[in-house]
Amino acid sequence: MKTEQLIRTFVEYFEERGHRRITGSTLLPPPGDPILFITAGMHPLTEYLEGRPHPLGGRLVNVQRCLRTTDLEEVGDTTHLTVFEMLGTWSLGDYEGRASLDWGYGLLTEGLGIDPGLLHATVHGGDERTGPDTASQRLWQERGVPVELTGEDNWWSNGPVGPCGPDSEVFLWTGDTPPISTPTRDDRWVEVWNHVMMRHRRLPDGSLVPLPQRNIDTGLGVERLASLLQGGSSVFDCDVFDPWRRHVPSLWPLDEPSLRLVMDHLRSAVVVIGDGVRPAGTGRGYVLRRLLRRVLTVLWRDDPSRSLGDLPDEPVTHALDHFRQRRDTADVRRVLLEEEHRFGRLLRRGQQVLARPRFRGPLSDEDLHYLHDTHGLPRDLVLTILRRE
Ligand code: ALA
Repeated sequence: MKTEQLIRTFVEYFEERGHRRITGSTLLPPPGDPILFITAGMHPLTEYLEGRPHPLGGRLVNVQRCLRTTDLEEVGDTTHLTVFEMLGTWSLGDYEGRASLDWGYGLLTEGLGIDPGLLHATVHGGDERTGPDTASQRLWQERGVPVELTGEDNWWSNGPVGPCGPDSEVFLWTGDTPPISTPTRDDRWVEVWNHVMMRHRRLPDGSLVPLPQRNIDTGLGVERLASLLQGGSSVFDCDVFDPWRRHVPSLWPLDEPSLRLVMDHLRSAVVVIGDGVRPAGTGRGYVLRRLLRRVLTVLWRDDPSRSLGDLPDEPVTHALDHFRQRRDTADVRRVLLEEEHRFGRLLRRGQQVLARPRFRGPLSDEDLHYLHDTHGLPRDLVLTILRRE
């Protein structure tokens, strides 16, 4: 099943159950929102989860692009991406968690043909904030799905303050043997769908108050499930990476974890540029800059003559089309190349400065401040140069 078909099947399934499709937003939050990028499908809906009536009613479905930098160090493993798509459903004070989980189970097993014997669920076992989520536990038991109770792992919030609540996660077995163990003990159980019983709001002092309505917020990572449905063993095996796999390995021979990092960060950079961000020293632009510098650091480690200018159009155009971005492929490539040149110049200058006798041996914090303030060499750049030498 292709990614586009997975999205269609999901959306139609929930439309048949009274949900209205809303248009996903770009990666950029609305003006005035302090976060850098949208990290979850619920984020643009926060005010509606907090009680404002949504013009399309209390049952919504969409697909939302998200960017998570908290997982940056994990990119290269089999399950994490920087930019990814999240399929989401919401009950804004309408149905309860039981209905959400039951529909989720129906879609996974009947709609998408997943063997129910390969599923495992986790639910919140209760803590000082709230009692155990027995309603979710019972639902899974009635469907014959094994359940594990956890604490923190089954509590979801989008940040230190705002809507939050206990959740129930659905895992799919990816091992070669019949399923064994439980999601917290064996990482061959891969999380595919999170259903959050979003009933609380956390205040700045850390206390919880009930939201004006009992909501459900669910999120399913598209590339993750698509790759599993397509028989792949990592998120990089799904069809959205086909154009990257076709070109990148022959252009730049890399070990698999480095290849994954390069494909993930480049594709993410293209989408971020597609949403109008430009490289900069702070904020969103700095996230973009870090992504590109991480790519170039990997590429130049083996061969400093490698250039993003050699990347063919196809993967860039494919990413822009997939996210329905109207930015020109040539414009995006120009931004990539300009940033590459800038980083190259900085590296050369940095190497010259660091070759001075003063900087032989371990650098103190004072050295790092001096290099930054006097020579414009950021700490992570200095560390990159030192690692390469
Ligand atoms: N908002 C929840 C998540 O991102 C569904 O996991």
